[in-house]
Amino acid sequence: MSDTVLYTEGLTVRFGGLTAVNNVTLDCNRGELTGLIGPNGAGKTTFVDAVTGFLPDNSSGSVQIDGTEVFGRPAHLLAHAGLSRTWQTLELFDDISVRSNLDVASRLLTVRGAVRDFFRPTEREDRVEETLALLGLTELANRQPVELSQGQRKLVGVGRALVASSTKILLLDEPAAGLDKTETAWFGQQLRELVGKGYTMLLIDHDMGLVLNVCDRIHMLVFGELVTSGTPEEIRGNPDVIAAYLGHSVDSSNG
Ligand SMILES: Nc1ncnc2c1ncn2[C@@H]1O[C@H](COP(=O)(O)OP(=O)(O)O)[C@@H](O)[C@H]1O
Ligand SMILES: [Mg+2]
Repeated sequence: MSDTVLYTEGLTVRFGGLTAVNNVTLDCNRGELTGLIGPNGAGKTTFVDAVTGFLPDNSSGSVQIDGTEVFGRPAHLLAHAGLSRTWQTLELFDDISVRSNLDVASRLLTVRGAVRDFFRPTEREDRVEETLALLGLTELANRQPVELSQGQRKLVGVGRALVASSTKILLLDEPAAGLDKTETAWFGQQLRELVGKGYTMLLIDHDMGLVLNVCDRIHMLVFGELVTSGTPEEIRGNPDVIAAYLGHSVDSSNG
């Protein structure tokens, strides 16, 4: 049996009369890169918002991390429990160094975290350096984000999520948005390397090429509902997927 890190059961999010996420049951296995795909407006971001505790008044269902029910816990405690995420629109601070961008993100926004950081500041600094090294960003640590390539900037964004706490699963919301084909391929390679080092991730993207190339398993949402789950091979030929992406070719050469 596979080892489940994140499991949602019947997760539902309602905004007034709109059901943005409808009774979604899915899992993410440890040490795997799981993809979450679906057309614009399918509910992908809303799903991550609900899982990470940002929609307490709109959501219902079950969210489990390593078998422990965490639904209803506030976002900052979920971050402590190992859920790290990136934001679809979050930009880097352009006038401070790459290292400082990670440093800012590494300060845990809880009393426990603040107390720990106060008494053991080097532990946090070590975490920043380890994350830089993990992502191959050490050489660029003193540069400002404007001096980096688009792909490297996106990687700093991933670093900001990773450095926050002891990450059990990293939820990436369209981290490759805006990258050209070459940069997307490079970025995907970096994600694969992280998985190779034992990290577990959920990757949201509407670039089918990226998702089919780098993910171990893929879930697809359409109008808030989980329509299908499978390996890239299974997804590639799935009629539901082709229908949802009609007009876009469903193959890995499509940037
Ligand atoms: N805060 C909100 N209030 C009302 N409707 C929302 C809100 N957030 C998202 N939605 C709606 O929920 C649906 C899913 O949106 P979203 O999760 O952003 O889709 P995706 O990330 O798959 O493109 C859309 O119809 C969107 O308009
Ligand atoms: Mg979205």
